[in-house]
Amino acid sequence: MLAVIFSHHESLSFFYGSRIVKSLGIGVLGFGTVGTGTVKLLLENSELMAQRTGVALNLVRICDKDLQTDRGVDLTGVELTDSVDKVLDGDDIDVVVELIGGYEPARSFVEQALKNGKHVVTANKALIALHGNDLLKTAAEAGVQLLFEASVAGAVPVVKALRESLAANRIEEIYGILNGTCNYILTQMRVNQAPFNEVLADAQKKGYAEADPTFDIDGIDTAHKLTILAAIAFGTPLAFDQVHVEGIRSITDVDILWANRMGYRIKLLGIARRTEDGLELRIHPTMVPENSMVASVEDVFNAVFVKGDYSGTTMYHGRGAGEKPTAGAVVADLIDLARDAKSKSKGRVAGLSYLDKHLKEKPIRALNDVESQYYLRFSVEDRPGVLAEITAILRDQRISIKTVNQDGRSSTDSVPLVIMTHRAKEENIRASLAAIEKLDVVSEKPHLIRIENSLS
Ligand SMILES: NC(=O)c1ccc[n+]([C@@H]2O[C@H](COP(=O)([O-])OP(=O)(O)OC[C@H]3O[C@@H](n4cnc5c(N)ncnc54)[C@H](OP(=O)(O)O)[C@@H]3O)[C@@H](O)[C@H]2O)c1
Repeated sequence: MLAVIFSHHESLSFFYGSRIVKSLGIGVLGFGTVGTGTVKLLLENSELMAQRTGVALNLVRICDKDLQTDRGVDLTGVELTDSVDKVLDGDDIDVVVELIGGYEPARSFVEQALKNGKHVVTANKALIALHGNDLLKTAAEAGVQLLFEASVAGAVPVVKALRESLAANRIEEIYGILNGTCNYILTQMRVNQAPFNEVLADAQKKGYAEADPTFDIDGIDTAHKLTILAAIAFGTPLAFDQVHVEGIRSITDVDILWANRMGYRIKLLGIARRTEDGLELRIHPTMVPENSMVASVEDVFNAVFVKGDYSGTTMYHGRGAGEKPTAGAVVADLIDLARDAKSKSKGRVAGLSYLDKHLKEKPIRALNDVESQYYLRFSVEDRPGVLAEITAILRDQRISIKTVNQDGRSSTDSVPLVIMTHRAKEENIRASLAAIEKLDVVSEKPHLIRIENSLS
């Protein structure tokens, strides 16, 4: 057991040597998946964390609407309440841990906690991506911290890596697999050669996808996370509405098969890149070479790659979600607060890494101006002259073709025609597809997947 002595006199820590002389009172909002993991971790590893910080992380109170469900945790000495105010206003609470999720009432609760002079730790990426600018301002005005390591890629410590370990670098690009649900679905579609809807249903049954999977499969969750990483990396305010977002609903098992045949994997990537013409901020399915590191990240795993001007590319890989991995990241923020308290440091690291006065909006590069290689798949009539019609349109848009693949004659009306282009401008590709779609010989909307050949 820990001998906890409460004192505001830091000098006592020297007098008493190794004994704990300070504690942080912690209140948890939301006793769901991450809340349960956080509570378990705070109770189970309290001694080792105190040995590492010299401060007791003292779980005082948990608030949830549901006081009946047994979460399998011995809460002796911890108050369980359905009164949010007891956490937000409690004199014995130094840190509020927000694990409710969503925009409201989470936003109001966090704001109230900050205004009450409590530090806040959250795993809520939606909240930070959309309301983080205002909440960080409120935190600064109140002289407290708002920390959110768990909001990006669960156990993967990429926020800390960007804010601290890589702080000497000019960050050139960040890309990665930031959503385990999408990565699981794309992996299973490839391994089992199964269609999207079948794999999604299976993922929902296994608990890897929500009953309403919209945020995950439409790329919104990935965009929340990329928004946070890009702001920290490039010194801009959080700008969720500037991110181009495409999800994985349009990916078919046919595309996955073609990607395999051509030596690629399809991944939902978040890409944030600094260019001379502004920042690229985009989420979309991407073909990556099958022997690249990013291609090897499978199932529910996440990976983030960060390229700094001095560090070169570093990679952060691990579990992006789940009770235990996410709890580890939540409590890591509590440990930072504990160490700050111990050293009497305040705001040692700015919320978005840059001091507020140096956060500047930067121009965003329009998607139409972005260049990459493209995989294009058309369903076309199986007769002479079709290829010539399509390639003429591509030629007129100055798009040069790298490979053309067409399966042999088919008994059905249409056959797939797959074209891989050399680097081309998105604007020209879109104009081509709009024209090709109108051809009589083309029977469905063309499929487009961007190809990134130069990623690690
Ligand atoms: N799950 C993960 O692996 C993971 C990973 C990274 C980040 N996150 C983030 O962590 C946060 C929590 O996620 P989660 O998966 O733990 O969610 P969850 O399992 O749904 O837990 C949320 C809990 O908060 C409770 N709650 C909702 N509104 C409340 C209110 N007004 N007052 C008190 N309690 C309230 C919910 O009760 P009811 O169920 O009765 O509504 C539920 O018990 C989210 O922001 C999520 O994006 C989750």
